Amino acid sequence: MQPLIAPSILSADFARLGEEVNNVLAAGADVIHFDVMDNHYVPNLTIGPMVCKALRDYGVTAPIDVHLMVKPVDRIVPDFAAAGASIISFHPEASEHVDRTLQAIKEHGCQAGLVFNPATPLHYLDYVMDKVDLILLMSVNPGFGGQKFIPATLDKLREVRKRIDASGRDIRLEVDGGVNCDNIGEIAKAGADMFVAGSAIFNADDYAEVIRTMKQNIKA
Ligand code: DX5
Ligand code: ZN
Repeated sequence: MQPLIAPSILSADFARLGEEVNNVLAAGADVIHFDVMDNHYVPNLTIGPMVCKALRDYGVTAPIDVHLMVKPVDRIVPDFAAAGASIISFHPEASEHVDRTLQAIKEHGCQAGLVFNPATPLHYLDYVMDKVDLILLMSVNPGFGGQKFIPATLDKLREVRKRIDASGRDIRLEVDGGVNCDNIGEIAKAGADMFVAGSAIFNADDYAEVIRTMKQNIKA
């Protein structure tokens, strides 16, 4: 599948969010990664469905990849679907009934993803490979942007890539945390095809230059 760059707006200037999203899309981003933190499942608090809807009302048509770091998960799913989310991903240990949450996301017309923290085992995938559209491996512990990529993620990516290939389904393999121009090539080789980057893009002066370099290094 065509590799996708998904800037995390966690590192954007929230006072100018609409403009930042348009700028990063004009710079070559494929998807907007939208980090939702609840100060309960993770020790930080960010943005919710109202902000997602505000981006749609502002004219953003690109896919919005909602990464839920919230507990409980289920009651916020319909709100994000109504707010214009394209993909909704959640952490399986934050849901009481993983299969039910996956179904609910799909019934609301969105693609469904499961997210694995660095130390979360992959067994949650065992009986739901037919229901997931995306698997997101965290390469940092969730809660904050600007952390360092955890190298053990590379082996985990290779393992998930095998499972996806064996499933015969078009499941996206996304990686999130500490991705930059220097490590993205290695991450792509390990099997990822969707790359979240927050600080590496938004802390740079020229978003287009970073995204162009990332895409080159994925292919190299
Ligand atoms: C962390 C978030 C990530 C984060 C990525 O909990 O899920 O999306 O913002 O930021 P960087 O690329 O700076 O690690
Ligand atoms: Zn994220």
